[in-house]
Amino acid sequence: MRTILVTGATGALGTHVTDLLRQGQDHVRTLSRHPDPTDPHAHTVDLRNGAGLHRALDGVHTLLHLASTPTGGDLQAATHLIGAARTARVHHLIYISIVGVDRIPLGYYKTKHTVEQALQASDLGVTILRTTQFHTLIEGLCQRMARLPAMPYPDVDAQPIDPAEVALRLARLAQEEPAGRVHDLGGPHIEPFADLAHTYLQAHRMHKHRWPLRAPGRIFAAYRRGAHLAPDHPVGRTTFAQYLHNTTRP
Ligand SMILES: NC(=O)c1ccc[n+]([C@@H]2O[C@H](COP(=O)([O-])OP(=O)(O)OC[C@H]3O[C@@H](n4cnc5c(N)ncnc54)[C@H](OP(=O)(O)O)[C@@H]3O)[C@@H](O)[C@H]2O)c1
Repeated sequence: MRTILVTGATGALGTHVTDLLRQGQDHVRTLSRHPDPTDPHAHTVDLRNGAGLHRALDGVHTLLHLASTPTGGDLQAATHLIGAARTARVHHLIYISIVGVDRIPLGYYKTKHTVEQALQASDLGVTILRTTQFHTLIEGLCQRMARLPAMPYPDVDAQPIDPAEVALRLARLAQEEPAGRVHDLGGPHIEPFADLAHTYLQAHRMHKHRWPLRAPGRIFAAYRRGAHLAPDHPVGRTTFAQYLHNTTRP
């Protein structure tokens, strides 16, 4: 039996990954700043200061690094994690990243790309998986935008994927040997955000005027070009509409 540690285990992706891994034979530990109090194998660690990390990693064979603080500190967190993983002789470190981190000049993306590079430069056995946006992210954006009297939406395409399907891929990778950067993972369809916003309103039986939001600058231009899409890897099966159907109470 191997020991696996999942960072960010309480997040949208991490909960699926942890549930899946716990259906197998491995011993699964979790890590976050505010862990599930009912989880007896949870470690409370803020990766940005790293206190408690060595104990969490003691005896770990495979480490899935899913934790992320979009407001800042991911590079610091990764530096602590790499150091502690080397000390603990972790065999395999799997990192979840985002399609386009090297093509979209968003601060958060640049940091994730730097973390990818730091992992690849380390002497750890590493696997890096980039995916498109999760359904949960698109849903959260729609939720906020639908609070306004008229609903704005970014005038770009998207290719959202179900985090449960990303979790499946990660759980498989956790059974394999380190593979470096693996094929990107995209949702089943590339759709205009206008359609996703419409789907959201329909699922919630809301009627609202919608209007396209365009922004000047290189970031928006990169999204317009589709730098965040994986047209060659439409691997996911669950559409945004199906995801909402499965998770939204009427
Ligand atoms: N959402 C997307 O569309 C998308 C697309 C592609 C890739 N990804 C990547 O997938 C990963 C998971 O995304 P998600 O949407 O599931 O995120 P999420 O729901 O926001 O969950 C983030 C997790 O990280 C933990 N965390 C945050 N800061 C931490 C810190 N400093 N130390 C320890 N734990 C910390 C959080 O728990 P606490 O708050 O309790 O610490 C939580 O468990 C991220 O790396 C993200 O970049 C996301």
